Amino acid sequence: MERAARCLGDACIFAEVMLEISFERKVVFISGAASGFGKLAAERFYESGARLVLVDLNLEALLQASAGFGDRAIALQCDVTSSEQLVSVFEQIRAKWGVLHIAVNNAGKAQELKNLEQLSDTEWQQMIDINLSGVFFAMREQIKMMLAHGSGVIVNVASVAGVLGAPGLGAYGAAKHGVVGLTRTAAVEHAADGIRVNAVCPGFSETPMMTAIRDSASGDLDTSATSRIPMGRISTPEEIVQALLWLCSEANSFMTGSSVVLDGGLTAS
Ligand SMILES: NC(=O)c1ccc[n+]([C@@H]2O[C@H](COP(=O)([O-])OP(=O)(O)OC[C@H]3O[C@@H](n4cnc5c(N)ncnc54)[C@H](O)[C@@H]3O)[C@@H](O)[C@H]2O)c1
Repeated sequence: MERAARCLGDACIFAEVMLEISFERKVVFISGAASGFGKLAAERFYESGARLVLVDLNLEALLQASAGFGDRAIALQCDVTSSEQLVSVFEQIRAKWGVLHIAVNNAGKAQELKNLEQLSDTEWQQMIDINLSGVFFAMREQIKMMLAHGSGVIVNVASVAGVLGAPGLGAYGAAKHGVVGLTRTAAVEHAADGIRVNAVCPGFSETPMMTAIRDSASGDLDTSATSRIPMGRISTPEEIVQALLWLCSEANSFMTGSSVVLDGGLTAS
């Protein structure tokens, strides 16, 4: 409080509130932790005292991302489209720490920009496998561990493409709508078990995924995207991760089944 009183302006007070969030000794699972939101979230959880289980398809990048975390992190190569690989990850968590407090299902991939009628079966299936089945397979194991413990928090990384039509991103958007639906169902099924389940729905954010989408655009994606955003810009990854941390924290004790949109006003306009 004393430090907050010395601060001037909303940004400073916000920073003080965030400092009060502690994940000391919490066991936190993050998928897609080698890059973008997942990598930044791992850093922020680590700084707040968490013990980390980090998974990604890209082992080399994951090992680089987790190099400074010492024995407070385990980094495992895992393809979230494989339920067998995910079962094995959660067996390793049971063996190492015996408990799972928080899970962030973040691994995902964007499709090449194209309309629905141009999508191949393979492109459709890949989007559903990574962005929807990957979240379901992980949640199934997480819920079992959290039921055994008697509490837990799950945050799924969906997208504004999960709450709006997404021209050019139809398969990706269908998968993200599925993630929002899974989030609601799991929240209702397990509200009485002490397990909270929410989602974040970011608009475009400056991560390597954004670069990939930009590369597949024919025109100036940034101008067309930001012209529709009332705040006139896309987000920084930090803006998304700070919201995600709060959703995971004990400060957020009464929210479950929500999909929190972080889009600079896009869906409100
Ligand atoms: N960046 C954006 O504009 C944006 C907007 C809305 C939602 N999202 C969502 O945020 C999440 C993170 O995206 P990001 O922007 O940080 O992207 P990113 O490409 O920087 O990171 C995604 C990570 O997921 C990993 N991954 C991909 N497929 C995997 C698989 N099968 N198994 C395990 N790991 C896999 C990648 O190796 C990568 O490390 C995704 O779910 C994405 O859909 C991103």
